[in-house]
Amino acid sequence: MMSLLWNLLVRPVIALQDSEKAHSRSMLSLKLTQKIPPINWLLKLSFRAKELPCSMIEWSLRNPLGLAAGMDKKAENVLAWENLGFGFIEVGGFTAMPQSGNERPRMFRNSAHGALINRMGFNNPGSEVAAGTLAAVQAKRKNPTMKILANLGRSKSTSNEDAADDYCTSLARLWKHVDGFVINVSSPNTPGLRELQEGDALKSLLDSCVSKEKECGGGKPVLVKIAPDLSNEQLEMIIDTSRGAGCAGIVATNTTLERPQPLNKKSSAFISQSGGLSGSPLKHRSTEVIRHIHNHTNGEWPIIGVGGISTADDAWEKITNGASSIQIYSSLVFKGPSVIKEIVNGLTRKLKENGLQSLDEAIGLALRGE
Ligand SMILES: Cc1cc2nc3c(=O)[nH]c(=O)nc-3n(C[C@H](O)[C@H](O)[C@H](O)COP(=O)(O)O)c2cc1C
Repeated sequence: MMSLLWNLLVRPVIALQDSEKAHSRSMLSLKLTQKIPPINWLLKLSFRAKELPCSMIEWSLRNPLGLAAGMDKKAENVLAWENLGFGFIEVGGFTAMPQSGNERPRMFRNSAHGALINRMGFNNPGSEVAAGTLAAVQAKRKNPTMKILANLGRSKSTSNEDAADDYCTSLARLWKHVDGFVINVSSPNTPGLRELQEGDALKSLLDSCVSKEKECGGGKPVLVKIAPDLSNEQLEMIIDTSRGAGCAGIVATNTTLERPQPLNKKSSAFISQSGGLSGSPLKHRSTEVIRHIHNHTNGEWPIIGVGGISTADDAWEKITNGASSIQIYSSLVFKGPSVIKEIVNGLTRKLKENGLQSLDEAIGLALRGE
């Protein structure tokens, strides 16, 4: 019902708006609804999925579906995401310094491809302000039902040589207010950032972040987020380096620089935009990356699978290829919040169909005996 209403009433209005304006208006509406108890109750009633308990890293989650980084860049809608029923969310990316990001327009949408292209460039209030926002929201959460990861990036004005300081500054500021960290070395929109995925640069950055986390008190997992545009050799080097540095897991993947074949004139104009592409055309590649990580680590290292998930079948594919949990961004834009329930309830059905008792049994199922 809610999904029908979304398609009939909300989607056509959003389609008429500039992508970033539509996004900002949606974030503002969520922010306002958080303050109105009857609306919170309605959100829970309409959108919350049934519980699908699972474990990720050392956490017990109410379901394996998370919100991907970049949707809530100010961490201003935590309570709304919790009401909508996510098992976990990733807020940010945050940088040590506040940034306005790249020039607009910088976010593009194409429904024929089911894809977005963005070149936002880490527009965010900076980790100091974000820490204040998160401290205030944490004070209001009496019985938290979802975990919060902070996505960390490098400020544009900081060089790669000084990147560790930038990431560690944000990590220390946010440490008290979140449950874990994702070190993002894979955004295509900050010049040079992806170079931090390479050899010694990656090792030194991750060593610093893991040490800083311990210095702050320890016990909050540090994960790394990678690009889909990597060779198998590069991927294996990143996995080995990150595990060696003590990272608790990996988020695969960020947006891609690859483009799908054009479908028509409108789609040609869309795919010619520079930036990172997300949504349906990323689905296959991100699953390949997840499968490779799972095989390379014998399924022993937690993978958060993200890229082109828009149905329960897509989520199942990611999990059976090795992801222990999943995240969405683009499908929330195209389908609205009912996609959360659709995916989680669909996964529960998939478990039953396959005669499995728990989601943990499904992780890597498609690869057993390969
Ligand atoms: C507008 C936009 C902003 C994003 N910002 C970030 C970010 O700050 N940090 C990050 O790690 N990923 C960011 N991402 C990538 C998403 O977290 C996710 O990895 C990607 O969109 C693929 O998932 P999807 O196909 O479900 O959208 C962003 C994506 C979009 C569309």
